[in-house]
Amino acid sequence: MSGHEQDPAAFWEQRYGGVERVWSGSVNAALAAVVTEHVDPSGSALACVDDGPRRRDAVGQPRSLDLGCGEGGDVLWLAERGWDASGLDLSPTAVARAKDEAQARGLRAHFIVTDLSEWAEQTFAAGASDAYELVTASFLQSPVRLPRTDVLRAATRHVVPGGYLVVISHGAPPAAAAGEDSGHCHHAPDSFPTPASELAGLALDPTDWDVVVNESWARDGVTSRGERVAATDIVTVARRLTGEASD
Ligand SMILES: C[S@@+](CC[C@H](N)C(=O)[O-])C[C@H]1O[C@@H](n2cnc3c(N)ncnc32)[C@H](O)[C@@H]1O
Repeated sequence: MSGHEQDPAAFWEQRYGGVERVWSGSVNAALAAVVTEHVDPSGSALACVDDGPRRRDAVGQPRSLDLGCGEGGDVLWLAERGWDASGLDLSPTAVARAKDEAQARGLRAHFIVTDLSEWAEQTFAAGASDAYELVTASFLQSPVRLPRTDVLRAATRHVVPGGYLVVISHGAPPAAAAGEDSGHCHHAPDSFPTPASELAGLALDPTDWDVVVNESWARDGVTSRGERVAATDIVTVARRLTGEASD
C-alpha cells in the first residue's frame, strides 16, 4: 500500500504507539528562536498583552494554538512562558503523552485529539470561531494523506489582528541521509518546501500580513542512534496587520 492510501489516524497512532516516546519533549529550536526574537521579545508573553489589540482569555493570557503538536514539546514551552497554550493532534497516544507531561511539569495546557483535515474544512465552511495571538505548526508534514496547504491556510484565519503565524518545516528529509527510516523517507518529493514555496502555499494577502521571516536555516539534527546529521528548517513568521495604518 502506498503512503497516501494509508489511513492517517492509523499510521500516526502506530508511529506513536510503537515506541515509548517519538520526539525529545523539548521545544523545537527554530520555534523557540523566532518566538523569543519576534513574537515575545520581552521574554514573557504576559508582559506584552497590553501591546496592541490582543485578545486574551479569561485570566488575561495571550492564547496560542499548535497544529500537529505531537507529544507537546512546543505547547509546553509556550505554557511555561505564560501563554494559554493549546495543541491539536490526530494521535490519541501523542495527546495522552502531552497531557501527562503537562501534569508532570505542573503546567496548564490544553491538548485535543483533532483531525486537522476536518478542522480546515470546518474553518472554511463556518469561518474561524477561535482566535489566537499565536498559531504555530512545527514539522506538520506527513508521509500519509494530509492537506497541509489547506490546514495552513485555515490557520491564517485563526490569527487575531496583531497576532502571529509561525510555520517551521523540514526542507529535506532530516535523517534519510544517515540511512535512518524515520518515516520521512517515504514522503513525496514535493513534501519538503523551500521558503518561496512555503510562502506561496500560505497565499497571505499582503494588505493583511507582514512577512517577518521566510528563510532556510541549517541545523544539526541527531538520529535515534545518536548520529549527527545536517538538517534544513524552513522558517516562516508572519504577523497579521491590525489595519490601523489605513484607518
Ligand atoms: C512530524 S510530526 C511533528 C510533531 C510536532 N509538531 C513536533 O515538532 O515534534 C507531525 C505531526 O502531525 C500530526 N498529524 C498528521 N496528520 C494530522 C492530521 N490530519 N490531523 C492532526 N494531526 C496530524 C501527527 O500525528 C504528528 O504528531
